[in-house]
Amino acid sequence: MQRGHGEADRLIAPGQDLQEFDRVMESAASGEGMSAQAVRTILSNNFTGPGRFGKMFPGLSPFRPPDEGLIALGNGMREAQPTEPGLDDPDTPAGFTYLGQFIDHDITRDPTQGLPPLDLDPAALENARTPNLDLDCLYLNGPAVNPELYEPGVDPDRAVFRVGTTIESSGGIAPNSPTIDPLPNDLPRQSDKKAIIGDDRNDENLLVAQTHLAFLKFHNKVMETLPQGDDGGSDATPFDKARRLVTWHYQWIVLNDFLPEIIDPDVLDDVRRNGRRFYQFTGRPFMPIEFSVAAYRLGHSMVREVYNHNRAFADRLVEPDAFTPATLFLLFQFTGSGGLAGQAALPSNWVIDWRRFYELDDPDLLNLTRRLDTKLIPQLHSLPGMPPGQPEASLAVRNLLRGSRVGLPTGQDVAQAVGATALMPDQIADGDDGAILRQHGFDQQTPLWYYVLKEAEVQGQDKRLGEVGSRIVAEVFVGLLEGDENSFLSRQPDWEPTLPSATPGDFKMVDHLRFVDDINPIESFFEPGGPQTGVMRVYTVQAGDTLTSIAEEFGTSVEAITQANGIDDPDLIFEGQILCVPTTPDVPVPRMQSYTVQAGDTLIGIADAFNTTVEAIVRTNDIADPNLIFEGQVLCVPVDSDIPPGMVLHTVRPGDTLGELAEVFGTTVEEIVRVNGIPDPDFIFVGQRLLIPRG
Ligand code: HEM
Repeated sequence: MQRGHGEADRLIAPGQDLQEFDRVMESAASGEGMSAQAVRTILSNNFTGPGRFGKMFPGLSPFRPPDEGLIALGNGMREAQPTEPGLDDPDTPAGFTYLGQFIDHDITRDPTQGLPPLDLDPAALENARTPNLDLDCLYLNGPAVNPELYEPGVDPDRAVFRVGTTIESSGGIAPNSPTIDPLPNDLPRQSDKKAIIGDDRNDENLLVAQTHLAFLKFHNKVMETLPQGDDGGSDATPFDKARRLVTWHYQWIVLNDFLPEIIDPDVLDDVRRNGRRFYQFTGRPFMPIEFSVAAYRLGHSMVREVYNHNRAFADRLVEPDAFTPATLFLLFQFTGSGGLAGQAALPSNWVIDWRRFYELDDPDLLNLTRRLDTKLIPQLHSLPGMPPGQPEASLAVRNLLRGSRVGLPTGQDVAQAVGATALMPDQIADGDDGAILRQHGFDQQTPLWYYVLKEAEVQGQDKRLGEVGSRIVAEVFVGLLEGDENSFLSRQPDWEPTLPSATPGDFKMVDHLRFVDDINPIESFFEPGGPQTGVMRVYTVQAGDTLTSIAEEFGTSVEAITQANGIDDPDLIFEGQILCVPTTPDVPVPRMQSYTVQAGDTLIGIADAFNTTVEAIVRTNDIADPNLIFEGQVLCVPVDSDIPPGMVLHTVRPGDTLGELAEVFGTTVEEIVRVNGIPDPDFIFVGQRLLIPRG
């Protein structure tokens, strides 16, 4: 790599470690086995510092096998039974997956579009994030430089984050869920739905988006409750104090709550006590590719295909009131990049119930991570926005190809370098992808990302990374904190959390969520007596009626009637028209359709036909006895208005099979299974509501 004058100047910048520079140059000159590339990388690591990628093991040779083998290996890393509960990690709640992704987005971002060219020098790659656990993905450069992130009109010294508002949800796609008011539980958004946040990747799926929101609220709550005279020094503004308190508590969570879930705690302990042995830098840290392109991509294996997200979106076999489980597909849709499934903002019934993602108080409903192994769920093999079938559509293939492009060493070489017990070829090729591994020689020379995941299977009982993976991850996290002059480890290594927690002096993610106190904001809407859908009266328009006169007669508003009946032009109603008129003021109304009961009808049959519930029809029509409906009776029936575009909602009828439905709607069984998170394609039940992608 030719260095320009600017970079050469930086090499002798004051304050940098010239002895280190001399040492590296001498070792190269003395031919101690270091290649020119290794010397270059060490120099880059030490002298270009933050904002750059570098190598933790610069002396190891890059492993760049033909793409064909990597593509075959990546495609083989597909979970065959993505909803099999036996393949969950029973000890790790699924919230940690998305905390992990949030942390990733705080420290590393390779902004290269597409795959970089072969033979890339990682030091030439820019890291668009500071490699510090400083929450720059949340704060960016603070209210003076990035006012768009902060609540307008607030003194910048007391700045709080903007938070977005959800839109009212009224049954719709989840007919059993009550009307839920707009809530302060979305990311703030522009009119084109793009989230106004420090890193757009945090609006890539709903779970990482809600994690980001929890951190926005964490800052706001700390700001609200900031004790006088806390950390930060006397001349720090309240904002600076709050930011430090938030950041230090977050750093504590990373070290003491998150990392022990995913790596061997003994390795972490060793690094903290005895220091880093392999991740070396002078001054401020760089981002090592062994971490960002391999070991820390472990999180891709933790992702589930299906989540039980809240009372509305969960498994109906477990919670009969729920509508459908939250598939990862739907969680991609309900984000800015997924167009919020055609909605203006996040519908309220998609707000997360954190009790289902961390060990708060309801272990029965807890989502677990998938096992740490060499398999990724099918949805991650067809990423949204990617041409299906292209190698890049598979996250597994992308990880392997990028590893090769940036020149990662093999897992075996790293194992030897760190003195770890290397996995044997038979151990590496012991899975159902063994033939692919052997065919391409990957059982002997294994791409680092795959190796780290296989180590987790063999050494970490599918729960934690093994020797190599734990060493890389532990050294990098500790290094990022030690290399940040503002972290608690640098400033005050004996600091302990000060915010309220279950164990004083400790602070876990559950304490964070309890402190924010927004654990399940939609729960009250499900409670008896909570906000509900209003009662409707059926009214037949008479000659001379106007919507204003009808609204006056029923004590409601013109808007409520137009909304309930989907009327675009309030001046256009006609004699004989049947209207559903809301009679309960201040209670939001879903879209209605009138239905005249036929001979032989039952409420169950009507509810099924309209994809709603008996309970909703009974409530809406104020029916005293659900067994007593009569021929000719006109009912107001709530109907769906928020089905994601490109989908139809189908209620399973006797005799339906997924194969037939796929044929009718021009899609595939796999697609229906994937979107609805159906555990067993041979088992669907009458009355089950399925979202079916239209072919
Ligand atoms: C549904 C969840 C997730 C999705 C869809 C996702 C998707 C992606 C994609 C598309 C990339 C870029 C791939 C490339 O072209 O090389 C990426 C990079 C990455 N992911 Fe994930 N990811 C998810 C969760 C996670 C989790 C849980 C972790 C860690 C705990 C993680 C760690 C990383 C890291 C470290 C990178 C590299 C970032 C960089 O340096 O630019 N991801 N992910």
